[in-house]
Amino acid sequence: MEVIRLNRDCLELLDQTSLPHKEEWLVFRDYREVVKAIKDMKVRGAPILGVVGAMSIYLAYLEYKGKTDLDAGVMEAFNIISSARPTARELALRAKEVLDVIINYRDLQVSDIFEVVEKIATEGYIISSRMIAQAFTLLKPRSRVLTHCNSGSLAVMGEGTALGVIKEGYKRGLVEVVYINETRPLLQGSRLTSYELKKESIPYRVIVDSSAPYLMSKGLVDIVIVGADRISMKGDVANKIGTYSLAVSAAYNGIPFIVVAPSVTFDPSIREGNDIIIEERDESEVLYFNGNPVAPSDSRAVNYAFDVTPHQLITAIVTEEKIIYPSSEGRL
Ligand code: MRU
Repeated sequence: MEVIRLNRDCLELLDQTSLPHKEEWLVFRDYREVVKAIKDMKVRGAPILGVVGAMSIYLAYLEYKGKTDLDAGVMEAFNIISSARPTARELALRAKEVLDVIINYRDLQVSDIFEVVEKIATEGYIISSRMIAQAFTLLKPRSRVLTHCNSGSLAVMGEGTALGVIKEGYKRGLVEVVYINETRPLLQGSRLTSYELKKESIPYRVIVDSSAPYLMSKGLVDIVIVGADRISMKGDVANKIGTYSLAVSAAYNGIPFIVVAPSVTFDPSIREGNDIIIEERDESEVLYFNGNPVAPSDSRAVNYAFDVTPHQLITAIVTEEKIIYPSSEGRL
């Protein structure tokens, strides 16, 4: 599924806030507009944010190239882009890769810088297929899988992280049904994951987030598979808010809890999960539903976009390189 188009003079994105009802493409030439789109969740998901971050620096480069303030311009762009969503590691990481090339290699042409962005995108496809090849080996035939948020083609170049594994598992007869947590407050599960699975005719059921532990207790879930936005060196995983409670419930019910993420999701500067910066989003996302207030006026909300699942609760983390068992290895 195509969700992003990299052109030499602009970036095109499938607007994820309009899905599943409308497929609308947006065109960007100014990196500041891309940053706004990132903050507004028109594009989201850690690996794809990396590609968008890289492309945003390229757009800033197009704006400043040939000017005396090129370095200052792209540096400022980097600071703005990288802080747009602080938890997803790939956003700043990939933007920095392009920034470093611009600053350190003066003789490069526009086409060379564009190639760096394209290479990051192409690598994403390769990494995604390698993760899938490792991870589906953890599935038993006819598994009933539970997932959270969206970790498929809308979030990743290629088939996805967790959802990529689930799709491949279905093709191989290893997945019977997918339970999709709706993923409040922005409904990435009910809007986006169901949209992807419907396109592939994979059987799914959308469930309210709070019902997942009950399904587990009734023996309806064989395995939980999720993605990750940033992972500490101990293996503590930051992912969409609600992931931690899923892991607690899975552990209590003796159900394997699998995280699928590219190896760059591990942040060498972060020892433990508590050190991960967790994005807090606007209270209105919790207090309003489809533009209508759901709480008395002047109510306040707490809106963490991610939480941290301690490594002790994770059965395995699958990267494109290997399968890691963080609870037994303790330190990665
Ligand atoms: O806030 P989002 O929609 O960007 O959150 C996305 C997730 O939490 C995904 O699980 C994560 O990015 C990893 S899989 C692509």
